[in-house]
Order: sequence, then C-alpha cells, then structure tokens
Amino acid sequence: MKYDVKDLNLAELGKNKIEWAENDMPVLLRIRERFAKEKPFKGVKVAACLHVTSETGALMRTLKAGGADIVLCASNPLSTQDEVAASLVKNDEIPVFAIKGEDNQTYYSHLNSALDHKPQVTMDDGCDLVSVLHKERENQVPDIKVGTEETTTGVIRLRAMKEHGALKFPVLAVNDSKTKHYFDNRYGTGQSTIDGIIRATNVLMAGKNVVVSGYGWCGRGVANRAKGLGANVIVTEVDPLAALEALMDGFQIMPISDAAKVGDVFITVTGNKSVLDTTHFQVMRNGALLANSGHFDAEINLKGLKSITEGQPKQVRPFVEQYSLKDGRKLNVLGGGRLINLAAGDGHPASVMDMSFANQALGLEYMLKNAGKMPVDVHTIPEEIDREIARLKLLSMHVAIDILTDEQERYLASWEEGT
Ligand code: ADE
Repeated sequence: MKYDVKDLNLAELGKNKIEWAENDMPVLLRIRERFAKEKPFKGVKVAACLHVTSETGALMRTLKAGGADIVLCASNPLSTQDEVAASLVKNDEIPVFAIKGEDNQTYYSHLNSALDHKPQVTMDDGCDLVSVLHKERENQVPDIKVGTEETTTGVIRLRAMKEHGALKFPVLAVNDSKTKHYFDNRYGTGQSTIDGIIRATNVLMAGKNVVVSGYGWCGRGVANRAKGLGANVIVTEVDPLAALEALMDGFQIMPISDAAKVGDVFITVTGNKSVLDTTHFQVMRNGALLANSGHFDAEINLKGLKSITEGQPKQVRPFVEQYSLKDGRKLNVLGGGRLINLAAGDGHPASVMDMSFANQALGLEYMLKNAGKMPVDVHTIPEEIDREIARLKLLSMHVAIDILTDEQERYLASWEEGT
C-alpha cells in the first residue's frame, strides 16, 4: 500500500484521538453500524480530499465499514493531524497522503496520488480535487459516477463550473444541508476559530476590538462567540442584507478602511481575496492580530504585507509570524493566513462534525443509489435525510420534541378557518 504520512510511530496517539472524537459522533456511529451490515459501497473506489482530522478519521472508518475502497489526501497544507494520518494507515489500512506543513507542490502531488487510485467517487472540501481532475486528468472523468463537496467555497466553485459548462459529473453540495451549515458553519467555525486564535496567542478577548469580515453563517458564529467573551465586535460586509442583520444582532458595522484603524484582532471569513489589503495594513494599530478562517489563504494579502515589511517576518510563537513595518509597527499574522481553527487548533468539535459527516455518509449513499438518473449539476440532499439527521442528533442528546396532533395537521393543510 502506498502512502505518505509524517511518522507511523504516531499511530497509537492517533487511534486514541479518533476514538475520543467517535465518543461524540453518535449519529455517524449509528450509520456505520448499518453500513457494516448492508455494505452500500462494496468495492466502490473513493478519493477523499478532506482536512485530515480525528473526525475525518471517523468518517473514513465509516465508509470503509460500508465496503468502500478509500484513499485520503489533505484539503489544506496546514490542517493535517499527523497522528490521525498515521493511525488510518497503520490501524485501518487506509492509504493517506497528508503531512502537516507540506508545501504547495507536495500538496498537489498528494492530490494526484489520490487520483492515481482511479476513483469512481470524489469527496472534496474546497473543490481542489475536482478542479485538478477536470483540468489535468480529464481522461479519468468518465470513471467518476458522483462527487460530494463539504464547504461553502467548494460549492461556489462547483456552481461556477456548472455555469461555465465545465462540470462533468453530478456533485452533492453537503454544505447546502441545514444540518451542515446551520451548525458546522455557525457553531463549529464560531467556536473553533476563537479557540485557534487563543491557542496561538493566549490573547484576552474581553475589551478588545474584534473585527469580523463577513457575516455569512461562519461570520455570524465567530462574531457571536467573540461577543460572548466580552469583545467589542465590529462587522464589515459588502452585502446590505447581511450588514443589516449584523447591525440588528447588536454589532457595529463599518467599512474595513475605518475598522482597520481601530481593530485589535481581525478575523476574515468572507471566501474572497485581499479582504485585508496593503492600504489597511498601513493604518492598523501596532500589535494587531490578523487571522483568517475562510477556506483559502487569499483573504489576507500577505504579498502586500511583505512589500511594506522590513526584513523577514519573525516566528514569535508557533503559528504567529510578526511583520515589522518600516514605520516601526508590528503586525502578527496567525497560521500563515490559513484556516486558523485547523492550523492552530483541532478544527470543529466532533459533536458538530457528527452531523456534517452524517451528511457525507448518507449523501454519498443517496448519490450512488441515484447515480444513473442524476443530471450533471450541483445537488442538495433530500429534505427527509436532512431532517432524519436532526432527529437522530436530538435523540442522541436525550432531547424530545412534540408531535403535531391530527387536528393540527388538518389545520395546517386547510385554508378555510380564519379570524
Ligand atoms: N473542518 C472544520 N473542522 C473540521 C474537522 N474537525 N474535521 C474535518 N473538517 C473540518
């Protein structure tokens, strides 16, 4: 079996980490039990390009229990948990190509190693695997039956591919499920982003001006968690609806050019590029912390920052690089501008990944069952599956809800009764 991980001796540590995560993933484990009996993926070759974390380890073991022949590579050069990668290789015989801190060239060579596995299914987080497949390995495209995509950025790229007539097979947008983005994006990103920043810096959030750029599902989560820790949160937005919502949620709104002058901590979660740009660095306070929690490292213009920096940035703590500007101010970039929650922390907690990966597992089963009749498009999981995941999650949390009475059902389906 071919693989490329940092050190197989880390496997025992990784096994403990995966089992710890699985304790908090009851929905996925329940699905695994059924898959082990029914083998819905018997012999299906899957190439997964995901953040290699303990939660992803739990998903890989679930797909394997269902009969899949899987290979896993990293979806970000800095998000791999090396001990998890080692355990999947050594204890589960799943080939993994991922090393934390790999350079861009190795990152892409790992994607290509996953594609050498000749997959019939792609499971992507950010659309890099699908992009390489369509751009550089078109000869393999006819073998692909279906794909799944985990994240907002990946779904945006896939919809652009569809729009330009480039997409060649049906893909499920896992991010579109309510049991994904309502929880993973909001509470997962909210908590893990603040956690990553604190682990990297030990900064006190109370009393700080925290600037959150982007008020989508992730931005909402980050802004609310920062507020909960006592920060004075400023939101920057380009969408009037999102800005209005943030305003009525109690946050200050201002253009980034103004926020840049007063922020102590900057967090980008927009999915766009150069959100923090050279003109902003030029007016920032000495000692400001700059972090990104969007999928790509394009949100903070690091090239622009380097162009106004004297000498090389200095590593002052793990995951903190200090840029000394020509006028003497110092700006601190966290996690190299990559996803701070996975670079400096453990990513989203297992309890929330339970629902995201239940969507991956059940979504893949649904897509494969319907592969022949699925048009080439970006699909959403059926509402019944989404609701079933919510029901199972509530059940696992010992939370009961009410059921409509027959009279209430009839009332909701009628129009005659009024005032
Ligand atoms: N994305 C964010 N957090 C994650 C995690 N813990 N595992 C996999 N993907 C993630």
